[in-house]
Amino acid sequence: MEDINIAIDGPSASGKSTIAKELCHRLNYRHLDTGAMYRCVALDVKRKGINYEDEEELAREMNEIQIDFTPDEKVLLYGEDVSKLIRTDEISMLASTVSAYAVVRKKLVELQQKIAENKGYVMDGRDIGTVVLPDAEVKIFMTASVECRARRRYEENARRGLESNMRTLKKEIIERDYQDTHRKNSPLRKADDAVEIDTSNMSIIEVTDAIMEIIASRE
Ligand code: DC
Repeated sequence: MEDINIAIDGPSASGKSTIAKELCHRLNYRHLDTGAMYRCVALDVKRKGINYEDEEELAREMNEIQIDFTPDEKVLLYGEDVSKLIRTDEISMLASTVSAYAVVRKKLVELQQKIAENKGYVMDGRDIGTVVLPDAEVKIFMTASVECRARRRYEENARRGLESNMRTLKKEIIERDYQDTHRKNSPLRKADDAVEIDTSNMSIIEVTDAIMEIIASRE
């Protein structure tokens, strides 16, 4: 089968990255976690004290910023491995905030489109099926209940050695859902031709199998 691109969109902690990795493993594809790129912008803005409400200041930084991924999916900001630093709850919220700015989205969408030119990518985010790869051969819209997503984030944080609190996580997920779906620029929404999968009561294997069937059915 010729390589295709697979777009996975959905709210935070709906399982996108986990499933994307599993799909890449089965298909021998590459994964692009676009959320990690917005998280890099957030970390950069925080470190440099950039006033993101000042469009010119933000635009200057977006012209400079260097975000890269290593083959084993480490995230590099100006060459520094920030994979762990971008996963804190504070950076999650700030990423959601800075991602609402058009100048940020323009730059990152360009980078993402360039990366996926050669096909064979599983790209996950909020606007992949609608804006970044509107021609992606397979589009998935992944959802899960707030309770379930908070539990997943809690467990993910614990694995990364980060402490968290279920009540705070739930509050942040609801807040981030609101920000991500109500912003003016490329709000999170299901593409008309995306298949929706509620992963609340599904295992990683079950979700991956379901997507593999969707891929196979389009051949
Ligand atoms: O997927 P994530 O939780 O790592 O994403 C962090 C934030 O980045 C998310 O709250 C919204 C933003 N984001 C976006 O606006 N567009 C994307 N394609 C990916 C993420």
